[in-house]
Amino acid sequence: MCGIIGYVGARPCRDILFNGLRKLEYRGYDSAGISVLREGSFSLVRAVGNLDSLEALLDTVDDKASVGIAHTRWATHGVPSERNAHPHTDCSGRFAIVVNGIVENYLRLRAELVEEGHVFSSDTDAEVVAHLLERHYRGSFLSALRDAYAELQGHFTIVAMSRADPELILAVRKETPLVLGLGEGENFAASSVAAFMSHTRVAVFPRSGEFAEIRRHGIELYDEQGNPVAFEGHVVDWDEDAAEKGGFETFMLKEIYEQPTALVDTLAERVGPDGLVRLDGMGLQDELFRDASQIVIVACGTSYHAGLLGKYALERWARLPVEIDVASEFRYRDPVLDERTICIAITQSGETADTLAAMRVARHSGAHVLVVTNILGSQATREADGVLFTRAGLEIGVAATKTLLAQFLVLLLLALHVARVRGKLDEDTVIRTVNELRSVPASLARLLAGEAPAQLQELAQRYRGSPFFLYMGRNVGLPVCLEGALKLKEISYVPAESYAAGEMKHGPIALLTHGSPVVAVATDGRTYEKLVSNMQEVRARGAHVLAVASEGNEGIREVADHVVYVPATSEMVSPLLAVVPLQLFAYHVAQANGEKVDQPRNLAKTVTVE
Ligand code: AGP
Repeated sequence: MCGIIGYVGARPCRDILFNGLRKLEYRGYDSAGISVLREGSFSLVRAVGNLDSLEALLDTVDDKASVGIAHTRWATHGVPSERNAHPHTDCSGRFAIVVNGIVENYLRLRAELVEEGHVFSSDTDAEVVAHLLERHYRGSFLSALRDAYAELQGHFTIVAMSRADPELILAVRKETPLVLGLGEGENFAASSVAAFMSHTRVAVFPRSGEFAEIRRHGIELYDEQGNPVAFEGHVVDWDEDAAEKGGFETFMLKEIYEQPTALVDTLAERVGPDGLVRLDGMGLQDELFRDASQIVIVACGTSYHAGLLGKYALERWARLPVEIDVASEFRYRDPVLDERTICIAITQSGETADTLAAMRVARHSGAHVLVVTNILGSQATREADGVLFTRAGLEIGVAATKTLLAQFLVLLLLALHVARVRGKLDEDTVIRTVNELRSVPASLARLLAGEAPAQLQELAQRYRGSPFFLYMGRNVGLPVCLEGALKLKEISYVPAESYAAGEMKHGPIALLTHGSPVVAVATDGRTYEKLVSNMQEVRARGAHVLAVASEGNEGIREVADHVVYVPATSEMVSPLLAVVPLQLFAYHVAQANGEKVDQPRNLAKTVTVE
């Protein structure tokens, strides 16, 4: 959602801030703004639309100032407009602030402040922060922010400047992301490391409720009572090129092609010399899995689809009951959990509001919480009892691709490990399956270098005008279908539904008419024959079947109109390959229809509000 960057240093910062905003574009936004501070005055500019609109106005901003804050806004309260874009200032013009997230009690605060004589110039919830600073200011900027923070409810990150403290910016977070960058004679505050990665790799992740004083030569952290807090810097090893397209036309396409590397990196250090899975540093002891009565998986969107595969693998291999729910439902439905429950939360960003809330519900009920995430220092890592990192690198495209594959992989590794710990799989089987997983990156690289991408582009051209797509699969093919349909909806805005193929006769088949495209995930597995029957049923109603099948399966050509082959694997491993053609298909439909693939409308990369 919104993106923030703040800078204090010796260099002119206008362009540093603007370039930082460019690196945050992936989060989704509809307006943007910058304010810099020099010689006691702010120079501020805001614009609606993409960053090109802001860039056109940049000349009006002081280009010598070396302190500043900037923001990309994803509208929640108040339409996208210049007056609602951040930064906001108070009545006295002493403070400038940017906010990510939502101030839930803003209506009451705003009414009080208006009563006191404050004049608001936007419709946003965020502006109350500037006026609260004004209300509480008694000579100390930090105390004013602390007092303002104490009055605010919701989830938000604030970065603020004061004309009275011209070499200081303050930052604080309540649940939503904030990362500080420690540079040489300059320091940063931002929503993501991506914003300052080209200047420094040393990142500090403040906890919720910690206040950061950021100056040119250093950073201090304080708790809500004003006591200093110790912190450490983490070196972020993401490739700087991750924030560049590197010759690809979009980030999404680049990230699809980075998937073999994401798998290799995620596997590294996860396989011991004995060929077994190593989950060192996970933070949950094997005994917990041995004694567990159930596993519950919570996640949203694509991460939920990864969780579905995790459920199949944990049930089949580890013989543990597994329940799965979308986090937004789980958090409100009084799930039955206890201390023998392990909750696995899956979130690439580690900041999704509903997933964090679901984790809290689970912990509150005594469950042990393990998070699978891609982001070091994210809120989820702080709240979980254990963490398994995916190593997909920075993902910029709003539509998740490589993080999904890395999640699939981590969940399969976890299921193998738990199965062995519980004595449900012997070591030979685990070693054999791990070896198979190790061969997937090469198989995937072969798939991406082969005929499939061009074939999918052609199919996308052919079916791009279809008003509706149906996806069907069985067993582990179902999460793949759900993900394929979600990708198509997200980036091409074409209606798409995904069903367990056995459900077709119970309703969805009524949707089909002559020429309706039906995507079937028909890789080899225990339900393959059943799926073939479903393919015949839909074809009998005139639908065109686009099948994803295992290499070597020539027979499928008789029941499908088009077949895209993926390297053959065992059933549980097949989603790692089968989902990739569906990513590419969605990508090419969106491209053929001229959509903005990396920044789909209405969507944000990190959903930090409920
Ligand atoms: C994926 O393409 C979507 N952008 C979205 O469904 C996403 O997976 C969801 O918002 C969950 O995000 P998380 O993994 O960061 O929690």
